[in-house]
Amino acid sequence: MSQRVYIFDTTLRDGEQSPGVSLTVGEKVQIAKQLARLGVDIIEAGFPISSPGDFESVSAIARTVKGVTVAGLSRAESKDIDRAWEAVRHAEQARIHTFIATSDIHLKYKLRMTREQVLEAAVAAVKRARSYTSDVEFSAEDASRSDFDYLCQVIAAAIAAGATTVNIPDTVGYAVPGEWGGLINDICHKVPGIEKVIVSVHCHNDLGLAVANSLAAVINGARQVEGAINGIGERAGNAAVEEVIMALHTRKDNLGYHTGARTEEIYRTSRLVSTLTGMRIQANKAIVGDNAFAHEAGIHQDGMLKERTTYEIMNPAMVGISRSNLVLGKHSGRHAFRQRLEDMGYFLSKEELNSAFASFKKLSDKKMNITSEDIEAIIEEQLSSLPHSYTLEYLHISSGTAVVPTATVGLRRDGQLFEEAACGNGPVDAICKAVDKITGINCTMINWGINAVTSGKDALGDVNLKITTDGVKVFMGRGISTDILEASAKAYLNAVNKLVYASQTAATEQAGKKEVDTDADDNN
Ligand code: KIV
Ligand code: ZN
Repeated sequence: MSQRVYIFDTTLRDGEQSPGVSLTVGEKVQIAKQLARLGVDIIEAGFPISSPGDFESVSAIARTVKGVTVAGLSRAESKDIDRAWEAVRHAEQARIHTFIATSDIHLKYKLRMTREQVLEAAVAAVKRARSYTSDVEFSAEDASRSDFDYLCQVIAAAIAAGATTVNIPDTVGYAVPGEWGGLINDICHKVPGIEKVIVSVHCHNDLGLAVANSLAAVINGARQVEGAINGIGERAGNAAVEEVIMALHTRKDNLGYHTGARTEEIYRTSRLVSTLTGMRIQANKAIVGDNAFAHEAGIHQDGMLKERTTYEIMNPAMVGISRSNLVLGKHSGRHAFRQRLEDMGYFLSKEELNSAFASFKKLSDKKMNITSEDIEAIIEEQLSSLPHSYTLEYLHISSGTAVVPTATVGLRRDGQLFEEAACGNGPVDAICKAVDKITGINCTMINWGINAVTSGKDALGDVNLKITTDGVKVFMGRGISTDILEASAKAYLNAVNKLVYASQTAATEQAGKKEVDTDADDNN
């Protein structure tokens, strides 16, 4: 009989550690709600002691997101564990996830602790966490490079102290599938008490093997897999949750495992995470990439027309991709628009619907046929707007081969209108300079790229760019319009709004003097 594998999603913790990603509390709650709809079993909502903002997000998710276990990360230290509990305690099912490194390299250079000290810290941490909740996960960081006997000793001690899940991370993505599967098998057979707990794996993708390693671990006894949507996370990222789910689902015949995921929610979850994090999905990404179900070669297209399964091992509908060709246009009303949104799985509030419908009407004046992709783009743009942000009111550009490009930009913020003009090396440069004059922030653009949302001359242009003010913190922006200069202005504003929001949040946190001493960034 097929056995259950639990999905532990760390998009909001490890995933949020991706360079350039910074999500607001509201955005994290939105993602967590969608993860719950997807049917993951555990959401690791953040690292509560790392910042007041992280604490607030974990706490908001614990209070509002139902039907799922909410976990908070903590180092193996009392103050971390107390803070993690404070954040997750209102969840329907609360988990404390505590970790400490077990490899000699981490002990010597990072922790400066002996093996005995680490063992003691792990036991004390698990016991403290157990004093709060019966759901405690212990992780042996850098397990793949740890001495096997010592690793087993720490895991056994954590189980004896009360851990209910033990997680074996390949923190640096060093393992290869055969070896990793063997390690998990040995742990499952040799560690005293292991039969009482769930064995979990957390694989990083430095060698592109995170999903393969996760599956090798499942075959060898792991029953929880950790990962992030779209595979985001530290460096090359984590195992992609959607790939793990679909591999187990599609190859159940061979592997014999199942998850509790509602696969039709995968695509929507992936798009939401991509939009809010600003991390684009590569076209050939498995399961959710634009080309994942596209067929180019004539022979393939011919085969598909005769019988879909000739070249498709999964039905796109199974992951929530609709191939509906029905288009909306200028004459479509609010009712048809709302019906289409609901068919696509978007249930908007009255205000959100009004604003999305206004954008739809504006677009239908410029573009004859509006497809599902266009509607998705409208909704995604809407979802990424921030409170008290600048919005583009109007834009006037003067440009050509023999004139200095000039832009006049009108922005609105909290009801007030601002206008500035500037010259630049090109029209996009002129727009950015005019925006900088209004905001008073001097930003450097690191990169700029454009994609067409659909085909055709009237296609929406989807501009993605990155900005920085200090060369360290990077903010991503995205803007959509049939006019690529307007799309650039919107993308630039989107990034500037994130920057403004991040500095306001940092200032509020500073003022609250709630700063807790942590070197968390170095520790995971
Ligand atoms: O990669 C890692 O080891 C981690 C742990 C905190 C589980 O993210
Ligand atoms: Zn990790």
